[in-house]
Amino acid sequence: MKPLSDRTKGLRQSDIRAVTQMVNAYNGINLGQGICDLPTPDPVKQGAIEAIKKDRSIYSYHSGIEQLRKDTAQKFRDFNNIQCKHDTEVMITTGSTGAFVAACLATLNPGDEVIQFEPFYGYHVNLLKILGFKPVFVPLEDKTWEVDFEALEKAITAKTKAIVITTPGNPNGKVWTKTELEQLLGILQEHDLWAFTDEVYEYMIYDDNQHLSLASLPGGFERTITISSFSKTFNMTGWRLGSAIAPEHVIEKMGLISDLIYICASTPLQYGLDEAFRMDQGYFTQMKKDYNVKRDMFCDAMEQAGFEFERPQGAYYLFANFEKLSQKRNGMANDKEACETLIKEAGIASVPGSSFYNSPEDGKYYLRFCYAKEFDVLEKACEQIKGF
Ligand SMILES: Cc1ncc(COP(=O)(O)O)c(C=O)c1O
Repeated sequence: MKPLSDRTKGLRQSDIRAVTQMVNAYNGINLGQGICDLPTPDPVKQGAIEAIKKDRSIYSYHSGIEQLRKDTAQKFRDFNNIQCKHDTEVMITTGSTGAFVAACLATLNPGDEVIQFEPFYGYHVNLLKILGFKPVFVPLEDKTWEVDFEALEKAITAKTKAIVITTPGNPNGKVWTKTELEQLLGILQEHDLWAFTDEVYEYMIYDDNQHLSLASLPGGFERTITISSFSKTFNMTGWRLGSAIAPEHVIEKMGLISDLIYICASTPLQYGLDEAFRMDQGYFTQMKKDYNVKRDMFCDAMEQAGFEFERPQGAYYLFANFEKLSQKRNGMANDKEACETLIKEAGIASVPGSSFYNSPEDGKYYLRFCYAKEFDVLEKACEQIKGF
């Protein structure tokens, strides 16, 4: 038999599946997978049921149904402060992941380099690799996640074409500040680079932090592909719906690429999702409030157990350091061992930190926990962690 493609060689199942199997065997609580177990809002579910009943079953326009593009564009204007046009500068995609693939294929050539800050969201890196592009890593300051702009400048070569920014960040919950984004934009302009911004956690923000889109800064829109998702905002990761905005000539090509790869996002689900735009704004206030309580509850428990970290500024993950803890306890010599020990002794699953770094050594003393859980489940998890 002829071998499989070269691009499949480095591909392997992430640690998350093995961790899930193990925590299930111990009847524990899974804070590993980045999945939120909260319900999808009723109007959205009803809207999809209605659309299916009405046989809205044919392919939609590749960039999405018109009403959803109109409402999404309005959301980008109101919430993100980006003045985009719904008919030419917005598209609905199969999750933010579909948007990221289209963004890469629309702007990059084989061998082009793309800067990726560490710790990173693994899909970005692995997608770049299988698509034939080269991720180049720039570490954020350990623990504080500050940007080292000198290191960034040094990483830029003649082959660099784009920079990926995830704000709020997964796994570290970093929210990029205005000053950081302005400095970054200066570098993008100086070296004539694209930015792909992943803003899927834009509504999950804590304390006085504010979500700011790079594309809302003067001069930002023309070189940014802003990628967002409905997965996290409306607890619908399995519906596979996201969005992107960019200048017209980019969205045109991204639309054509998406058309070739999957034709369109699911039509009846797009109709269902559109109902979300008619929901009371109280939905967002409540969500923010609930996540604030969950973050504090979880961080308090983790501090009590001896983990070290800066509290997340956004998103719903805690990336916790256990280097000091490892000196006091057995079974915590590295991230994989610590992950196993925590499942066996506290019934809590996490993700080993090395999954978020190019060099596994850099994540050796980190674990990522997802606290997007129902209150009763999270309370139980906190009790188990405090007893660890
Ligand atoms: C940073 C980040 N981007 C994108 C995604 C995937 O989003 P979607 O479901 O819209 O493809 C995730 C999911 O965990 C994520 O953490």
